[in-house]
Amino acid sequence: MSGALQTVHSVSEMRRVREAATATRRTIGFVPTMGYLHEGHLSLVDVARRHVDLVALSIYVNPAQFGAGEDLDAYPRDLERDLELAAGRGVDLAFVPSDGDVYPEPQTIWVEPPEDVGRRLCGERRPAHFRGVLTVVAKLFGMVQPDVAVFGRKDYQQAVLIRRMVRELDMPVRIELAPIVREAGGLAMSSRNAYLTAEQRPAALGLSGALRAVREAFERGERSAEVLRQRARGLMEEAGVRVDYAEVVEANDLSPVVEAQPASVCAVAGYVGTTRLIDNALLAGSSSLDDSGA
Ligand code: PAF
Repeated sequence: MSGALQTVHSVSEMRRVREAATATRRTIGFVPTMGYLHEGHLSLVDVARRHVDLVALSIYVNPAQFGAGEDLDAYPRDLERDLELAAGRGVDLAFVPSDGDVYPEPQTIWVEPPEDVGRRLCGERRPAHFRGVLTVVAKLFGMVQPDVAVFGRKDYQQAVLIRRMVRELDMPVRIELAPIVREAGGLAMSSRNAYLTAEQRPAALGLSGALRAVREAFERGERSAEVLRQRARGLMEEAGVRVDYAEVVEANDLSPVVEAQPASVCAVAGYVGTTRLIDNALLAGSSSLDDSGA
């Protein structure tokens, strides 16, 4: 691993790379992804780079986190482009396991998300999703054995759950969170944006637009979480989003709040056509919404 991107497919090869890094006292930073990379993923690579000697990025579309009828088969994939982007951003190691590498036998032990954080927001709508995420992240941590792992705030609930998993299961990895990266109009970057047609893009801006309006209302003094969530919901509907949820929640356990605080998080999810999008923002303080032109 000396400047050029090394691509590794098997777990045994991954372990050899890890052992070589340990032997030469080099730390590994890890960015787990499902591929179809965009600037949001690449910004996680930059964050990892600040903390470690070597950056590993995994590309694996994890079937266990997709529910029946969800978009597992349609999920966008372009490995060649991903590897080019990863190499261009200075990733040292691309770990690209197959289903057989990650799940060589039927999985019988799962990391179950806790009843509180795990069952709220996306957890309520996608019941097996976070169990699939936590289990694969735990497995990937076992395979890569990173010193640091970086996740995006865009998947806020996922980030909260992963932090809790690492803490409660005493996993020897430090979790770093990175800000949401937005397109020029404010749309949070996501591989699923690839599903949106040009006609659907204005509606998709309804999510970040609603978050910006909620932050503005909070700044003007509105403290009723109910008023704020109804405002978010109304603006998303006006934009043409079929609202899944619009909630104002406590930042650590994601429980609904009655009186909004600066550190509360507004979390939204909705469908534009058949594409499900999510987004979130802190009610006060610096936010990726401030500089996105949203
Ligand atoms: O955030 C994602 O892309 C996925 O949930 C992750 C963390 C790579 C696990 O499959």
